[in-house]
Amino acid sequence: MAENTASSAGRHVVVSQFGETPMDALAHHLSLEPQARPDRSTLAADDVIINVRSAAVGWVDLLMSSGQYQHMASPPYTPGLEYSGEVAWVGQAAREQWTVGDRVMADGLLTGPRSHGRHRQYGGFASWAVAPAKALHRLPEAWTYDQGANFFGNYETAWHCLVARGQLQAGETVLIHGASGSTGLAAVHVAKILGATVIATGRSPAKLAEVKAAGADHVIATAAPDGSVARFRDEVRALTQDGAGGPGVDVVYDGVGGAISLESLRCVRFGARFLLVGWASTPFVARGKGARGAPNANQLPTNLMMMKGLDVLGCPTAITTRMQPSVRKQRLGQLLQWVKEGRLRPHSGPAYPLDAYAEAMRAKWTSRFVGGCVLHPNG
Ligand SMILES: NC(=O)c1ccc[n+]([C@@H]2O[C@H](COP(=O)([O-])OP(=O)(O)OC[C@H]3O[C@@H](n4cnc5c(N)ncnc54)[C@H](OP(=O)(O)O)[C@@H]3O)[C@@H](O)[C@H]2O)c1
Repeated sequence: MAENTASSAGRHVVVSQFGETPMDALAHHLSLEPQARPDRSTLAADDVIINVRSAAVGWVDLLMSSGQYQHMASPPYTPGLEYSGEVAWVGQAAREQWTVGDRVMADGLLTGPRSHGRHRQYGGFASWAVAPAKALHRLPEAWTYDQGANFFGNYETAWHCLVARGQLQAGETVLIHGASGSTGLAAVHVAKILGATVIATGRSPAKLAEVKAAGADHVIATAAPDGSVARFRDEVRALTQDGAGGPGVDVVYDGVGGAISLESLRCVRFGARFLLVGWASTPFVARGKGARGAPNANQLPTNLMMMKGLDVLGCPTAITTRMQPSVRKQRLGQLLQWVKEGRLRPHSGPAYPLDAYAEAMRAKWTSRFVGGCVLHPNG
């Protein structure tokens, strides 16, 4: 069967123009619109129509809605970089690969708002998406659609940072900031698979309890009573007294930035690696907002880097994949092998119906839960 014609009326979220911030975009420039089933007479022979079952609500989806991301679709477009679903129609050239009803997950670097080319407007916040056959992977049998929507971006980021850049080894200790987030929790999982000891940080003791249950060896709450970042170097040093090179961690995975980065420079042993992963605490750096001296521009003191013999490593996963495409083969190969062995199962946070997309995006932006939340466009 090449087509499932069960239903043709759908809906999708549309970003009509970029906002000043994600919350401004949400208030003024995003809407839920009727969506006609994609007209197959306009599609290419290797295209596949997907009935979307689950779409991750990602940090990047939010940033993109305010034009704060390095590579974006132009409005109007539908957000939802990563999603999973059921194949509903297959173009002639892809029929040996895919069949109607197959459960698939979409690769956000090859299709959707962050991709290049003609599939950019098809994000997962929609009843239907169109993707080229090569951008789809079979959903592992034991996984839910929600797990499939939380795989590529989170785990590829974790692997790129910890393995390709950080060279994290079994027996080493890694300090993971933003560990309750989508990529941070994936980093906890990957670090444990690699045999490292994980010290995870976050602002919420309740979320940290979940991070510990998900595999972190130690957790440290970093929020002072007034909301600022508390001193945590003593706790880290106490947990790493026996390490070679003095107390301190071997690797820092920093997805938060700002004051967390500064305090972390006091938590490393000599010769450690410091992974610059993201800036969840200082997100507005594009469109001139990261100008020198602006509050969101992260600046680290070079004297501490020098005295600690620190390797400071920028870890942009998508940019590196574009500049050095060969790196991806090893990364995906290793991750998919772990999936096959049952060692890697993505975490998924709460699920919202498509009508509640604004609530889901607000919840994600304000870090209300552990991991990523998802939208269920088709119930
Ligand atoms: N390098 C790469 O290739 C790459 C790829 C994907 C994402 N990123 C970046 O990595 C960062 C995290 O992404 P994500 O998808 O994991 O986001 P996320 O799911 O929203 O998680 C971010 C975590 O950071 C913490 N956080 C948020 N706001 C904070 C604040 N103001 N102060 C301190 N902590 C805060 C929160 O933990 P608590 O509430 O527990 O404190 C939250 O769970 C983002 O900056 C994103 O752009 C980088």
